[in-house]
Amino acid sequence: MPTPASIIKSIRAPVLILPVDRLDTELQREARYRNLALHRGPENKWISEDSLWVWCEEKIRIEGFFPIESIQKSATHLKSIDRRWCHLPFDSFRRGELIVEALPKQRFETPLAPPTVDAPLIPQFRYFGLISRDEGFYSSPVNARARFGEYTFLENKSEPPSRAYLKLWEAFTRIGAVPRSDETVVDLGSCPGGWTWVLAHFAGKTYSVDGASITPEVSRMPGVEFLKKDAFSLAPVWDGKIDWLLSDMICDPARLFELVTRWLAIKPKLKCVCTLKFKGESSFEAISRFQNLPNSSVIHLHHNKHELTWIHLPTDE
Ligand SMILES: C[S@@+](CC[C@H](N)C(=O)[O-])C[C@H]1O[C@@H](n2cnc3c(N)ncnc32)[C@H](O)[C@@H]1O
Repeated sequence: MPTPASIIKSIRAPVLILPVDRLDTELQREARYRNLALHRGPENKWISEDSLWVWCEEKIRIEGFFPIESIQKSATHLKSIDRRWCHLPFDSFRRGELIVEALPKQRFETPLAPPTVDAPLIPQFRYFGLISRDEGFYSSPVNARARFGEYTFLENKSEPPSRAYLKLWEAFTRIGAVPRSDETVVDLGSCPGGWTWVLAHFAGKTYSVDGASITPEVSRMPGVEFLKKDAFSLAPVWDGKIDWLLSDMICDPARLFELVTRWLAIKPKLKCVCTLKFKGESSFEAISRFQNLPNSSVIHLHHNKHELTWIHLPTDE
């Protein structure tokens, strides 16, 4: 069984293609490329949810298979099924690219604008790939905001003091929610200030907490109050209004779990976005504990490196 650390380290793009009958042997190899679970078979049976799938952003269904007699015939076959195709490299990559060249040209790489609650979907398309030189698969139609789960944004290269802001943009875009102007956010481990910079554009009030110093321009943004404190000293004594708890702190996920559960015990309706950072060995146990909290999911964002993101969104607001 691969360790979480070895899988996370090896992920390069957020799509993992795993025909269910090849799970064990294919997992490590394919996780290097993709993080999208693709289930073989028309019987509508999906890969079961277990901790190995926490990083799968999308699960797409294989709708069918097609023989590859020639590049042209394959392209004609795919064109008879649908107009927009995206190659999901799995095997015989070069042959797959030649089929792409014989298909109508498609554009997918429209960068997303900064997050809004309703980021647009890219026009519907299907994935296809080769499982051998002679056989391909194709997926059901896909409605997504990003191809391969690769959320790319029109970056702001001048204002945010770190590129960490892209993680938060992506998390907000994926959940389709941002802090409102009547809401209060606590941002733990906030320096140099990328996340706080994002939050200042949405939230009415942002408490930005770090033992280090924040970039002065960010601390002066409307609604931002910087607290030079150890984040672990704040909970559970916080008695002010709070709607969102965010953390990008470098700390042991087990310690972070203790912290968030203490906050949630007092404020169960808190919306949370927290980075789980791994140093060397990491355990499925810590990840599962976050996953098993009610209304929670743990995902590997396109902008996460050796880390995952825990999202807690209570449903009954
Ligand atoms: C990766 S940086 C955060 C980057 C930040 N989100 C941004 O967008 O610029 C991690 C931060 O966690 C802070 N940190 C680590 N342990 C902390 C603690 N116990 N209390 C407060 N901040 C802490 C570090 O000082 C560091 O600034």
